Amino acid sequence: MSRVFSGIQPTGEPHIGNYFGAMQNYVKLGQEYGKRSLYCVVDLHALTNPAAFDPALLAQRTLDMAVANFAVGLDPAQVIFFVQSHVPEHQELSWVFTTITPVGDLERMTQYKDKSGQLESVPAGLLMYPVLMAADILLYRADTVPVGEDQTQHIELTREIARKFNHSFGETFPEPRAVYNKQALRIPGVDGQGKMSKSKGETSTIGLFEPMDSIWAKLRVAPTDPARVRRTDPGNPDVCLIFDYHKLFSDLDTIQMVDVECRRAGIGCVDCKKAVMTGITAHLTPIQARGEELRADLDSVRDALTQGAREARAIAAPVMEEVRTKVGFLKL
Ligand code: TYM
Repeated sequence: MSRVFSGIQPTGEPHIGNYFGAMQNYVKLGQEYGKRSLYCVVDLHALTNPAAFDPALLAQRTLDMAVANFAVGLDPAQVIFFVQSHVPEHQELSWVFTTITPVGDLERMTQYKDKSGQLESVPAGLLMYPVLMAADILLYRADTVPVGEDQTQHIELTREIARKFNHSFGETFPEPRAVYNKQALRIPGVDGQGKMSKSKGETSTIGLFEPMDSIWAKLRVAPTDPARVRRTDPGNPDVCLIFDYHKLFSDLDTIQMVDVECRRAGIGCVDCKKAVMTGITAHLTPIQARGEELRADLDSVRDALTQGAREARAIAAPVMEEVRTKVGFLKL
């Protein structure tokens, strides 16, 4: 029986990269799979990022991340939505997996190399990050994992861990596959410095709950085709991040118009940015309104998380029990 799992870190306000890259697929798959789909705010993972980690803020951000997912249309009554630290089996399974995962495999992970390269002292948890991810997924025997393209390597490692465990202890876990939104594999940051990312800070992101004037302030100065110096120069939308945003936010007519007019210098960058702002406003306004409603009733959000953890544990507990038996822990 097929099952979906995905996780999202409470390291800051979710942005349109998270939304188009992953959260939209949570909603879609949630409608299809119902209670066979699990979504998790991964607060344990958030501890591994010393720059973004703030004890005073973590609980608030965890709650905010739940609000964000419900605001974009994920229905906690329809799916299983919970917080990672509320289901301790994640950590127990993760430990078992650390014992069958070569350190060399973990050191080869691109995200580990990127993140550890910026740190003077690298926490061991950062190296173990993908092992905990494998535990998240396999604890529910999930075989379908909606993520952005940046998680591909981690899902491949999860498959290897599943294979290795099955080989050593008998068939237990499926080998999960990643599911992407092909239109949003890797949404670029509004600062033009590569992928949009919470950990790069607010200059890179367009937040789902960001006020429109703040979004516009970033868009206005966002880089476009560097070869288009003057308004009269023809542009190349294929190398312009504003055009990437049009593909996400604008209707087909606008996308086609921008594609044609940019190439023949018929539209200037400022007007092109204004046009994408119209699409952004239309998309984000209802999400922001729903977020406001949810924030006015946080008790309901907390109740949904309590229920979600209960439902998740009901699936996780027997799987963990099977693992304990298979690895040979003493039963009394
Ligand atoms: P996180 O919180 O960094 O990101 C959440 C999801 O958003 C996707 N994403 C993007 N997609 C397209 N373009 C972007 N610019 C962009 N930025 C982020 C991410 O790929 C991710 O799907 N390691 C995970 C959290 C995790 C997890 C798991 C995921 C922990 N356990 C188990 C799946 C299964 C992460 O860093 O998420």
